[in-house]
Amino acid sequence: MVAAARTMRMVSRAAALPRLSLPAVRAAAPSVAQRAAFSTSGRYRKSEVIKETEVPVTVYTPDPKGAASSEHFSIPVQPGSQVPVPEPAVEEDENVNPLEEKVYNQMPRTLQKMSVMGKVIIITGGARGLGNHMARACAEAGAKAIVIFDANQDLGDEAAAELHHKSGLPVSFMKVDVRDGNAINAAVQNVVDLYGAPDVLVNSAGIADSNIKAETYDPAMFRRLIDINLTGSFLMSQAVGRAMMAAGKPGSIVLVASMSGSIVNYPQEQSCYNASKAGVIQFGKSLAAEWAKYNIRVNCISPGYMDTALNKVPALDAQKKIWKSLTPQARLGAVDDLNGLCVFLASDASSFMTGSNVIIDGGYTLY
Ligand SMILES: NC(=O)c1ccc[n+]([C@@H]2O[C@H](COP(=O)([O-])OP(=O)(O)OC[C@H]3O[C@@H](n4cnc5c(N)ncnc54)[C@H](O)[C@@H]3O)[C@@H](O)[C@H]2O)c1
Repeated sequence: MVAAARTMRMVSRAAALPRLSLPAVRAAAPSVAQRAAFSTSGRYRKSEVIKETEVPVTVYTPDPKGAASSEHFSIPVQPGSQVPVPEPAVEEDENVNPLEEKVYNQMPRTLQKMSVMGKVIIITGGARGLGNHMARACAEAGAKAIVIFDANQDLGDEAAAELHHKSGLPVSFMKVDVRDGNAINAAVQNVVDLYGAPDVLVNSAGIADSNIKAETYDPAMFRRLIDINLTGSFLMSQAVGRAMMAAGKPGSIVLVASMSGSIVNYPQEQSCYNASKAGVIQFGKSLAAEWAKYNIRVNCISPGYMDTALNKVPALDAQKKIWKSLTPQARLGAVDDLNGLCVFLASDASSFMTGSNVIIDGGYTLY
């Protein structure tokens, strides 16, 4: 009877579906065995409440003589017991400590793969902000050489000198505007001559315009932003990708996009920036598909609101309060919050990862 009534309900629902034919709905209906499995777990889910009074534990400890000893005990469970939540610690360590070869050789295989040991890394926009901190992270994670491409001569020189001074690694700065294909090609060839073909490109150079309504957006400004954020990602990837292909080297390209490529920010209007970053994400996916055959991986990092100079504009102060209130972690990202992800995507630990867009936003896009 119950089965008959269920069938009737399915038939009447199917009648309400304008585009699905009845045989298609029948084909999709679960078999008797599947329905039994679903209803069985449903029945248990309602009645079963897990309330253990103790947690059995086994602890294995190496003893100094090399033999493993084990201990068994139980932890009593007290209903409603809670551990107090500590305030998050704020760490500020500006040192750059490069991974030494002898330390690398002693590391477990998993951690070795998570390093960028011996890799030549080009970072655009590395003169300041997120790019600069990702450059430091790559230096700490074992890079053989770091090359900063940036349009800002003074900041770029200063950043390269500082990173070399702090890490002792070979670091170069090349004044390159990511809109200039010829300059990029010349600079990438120079990297090949100096250090060998690049293993990694981190493309962080970018600009943002916000609080501009689409109906009054100056077309010249629109074109300029697209040229830097999107065409710049293409020109850089093309030049570095060609160098990797010519050397027959596997490589990793990391494009810094933005969560704005997947969502529309609130409350500021910034259609051009959002469109540019959506373009970067789709460009990255297309490139990943095309270049997998060359063993070149392409992934995007999509940050949420980050506490960098890009956002340190007095006009944005009021909006920052709204951004924080819409972020589950209730803060802007720190300038080094992309570091771990950048190193991971650059490293061989992510060797089966290509065409991904990883959002790193304190939870902003959850709401
Ligand atoms: N800060 C954020 O909240 C945020 C959020 C999401 C995505 N992003 C993206 O992260 C990247 C870095 O942002 P940031 O906050 O570190 O910015 P930033 O302004 O601090 O640094 C950007 C760097 O790019 C360089 N640059 C700009 N135009 C260039 C050009 N045409 N050619 C070469 N270099 C150029 C600048 O000189 C600067 O050193 C950008 O692509 C940005 O869109 C930032």
